[in-house]
Amino acid sequence: MSTLPEAGADLLGSNSLRLPCIADWCADVEDPSDLPALLSFARERSLPLHVLGGGSNVLLPEHLHGLVLRMRNRGIALLEDSATRRVIRAAAGEPWHPFVLHCHARGWYGFENLALIPGTVGAAPIQNIGAYGVELERFVLEVRGMDLHTGLPRVLDAAACAFSYRDSIFKGGLAGAFLITEVLFAVPADPVPCTGYAALAAELAHCPDPGHADVLSAVMSIRRRRLPDPAVLPNAGSFFKNPVIAAEEFERLLLAEPEVAHWRQSDGRVKLAAAWLVERCGWKGRRDAGAGVHEAQALVLVNHGGATAGALLDLAARIRDSVHERFGVTLELEPVPL
Ligand code: EPU
Repeated sequence: MSTLPEAGADLLGSNSLRLPCIADWCADVEDPSDLPALLSFARERSLPLHVLGGGSNVLLPEHLHGLVLRMRNRGIALLEDSATRRVIRAAAGEPWHPFVLHCHARGWYGFENLALIPGTVGAAPIQNIGAYGVELERFVLEVRGMDLHTGLPRVLDAAACAFSYRDSIFKGGLAGAFLITEVLFAVPADPVPCTGYAALAAELAHCPDPGHADVLSAVMSIRRRRLPDPAVLPNAGSFFKNPVIAAEEFERLLLAEPEVAHWRQSDGRVKLAAAWLVERCGWKGRRDAGAGVHEAQALVLVNHGGATAGALLDLAARIRDSVHERFGVTLELEPVPL
């Protein structure tokens, strides 16, 4: 191992909510060949392991027991460039948005709808990042990493990742058991720009035949307008998932709330805009103990300064209760509490 883990590491600057957190131990993994030694270090001291990418989808406690591995390995390579597809390999530690720009600049199109999402390449498959009509799962060919129980390398193909809306096996059966070191993506050689998402279509209304560059700049404009920049106002993106409910439940809700924002799913169920539900309950722009609801996007909780994970979870619990009381719908947390 090239460097020893740091004891009593301050993780305030390593999470996009800027929650105060001291970890027992923390190491930056620049080279995955250091992992076996780091795993032994943890095993010898009976330390639980925690893996951090950009820290943009986690809720860190004030004291984190165990060894934190911050993935910092880099590298992007084009492995295949055929008439039908391009295969791209990217290291887990690559920051996501620069990866999108890197691909776009080389004509490896497809990722434009996912521009400006905070975090890293390695974290992206865990919650199957998605935005403006595209979810990551459509491009994932393989996720490569290490089985944390055996210390052996392991490769999962897309089917084995069990992707669904903001979910995957890495949050389910393999939670805490698999460390992602790199991801292989396959994008079509000549993808059709994806412009169907209502907010994106509206942004592109002036553009008669939008190309990939138009989609990229439209997505970046919408996000800059609607979502707070974590570097300016600390946040972890959407704090709740958009709930998906049964058709009968939706018909009942629609009678009471004819304007409820929703998307019908191919399986007959209906996805609701959690932001709409939260806003209707009067939470938009409210703040308490440093934790607040963003003024332009009711699904985003922010740290106005001095908030802890506890303060955010308290606020989230009150929001969940009021949404449940008014609409009978249960909101699920999106960031992962460690
Ligand atoms: N809306 C409101 N009030 C608000 C914001 C939105 O009523 O304050 C309603 C509007 O009717 C709007 C609808 O909600 O049409 C959807 O809003 P938006 O397009 O902003 O998307 P979202 O459902 O709130 C989801 C993702 C975002 C992603 C956007 C765009 C989840 C949990 N969130 O948000 O992802 O960027 O769609 O695709 O699925 C994230 O996961 O961290 C994230 C930011």
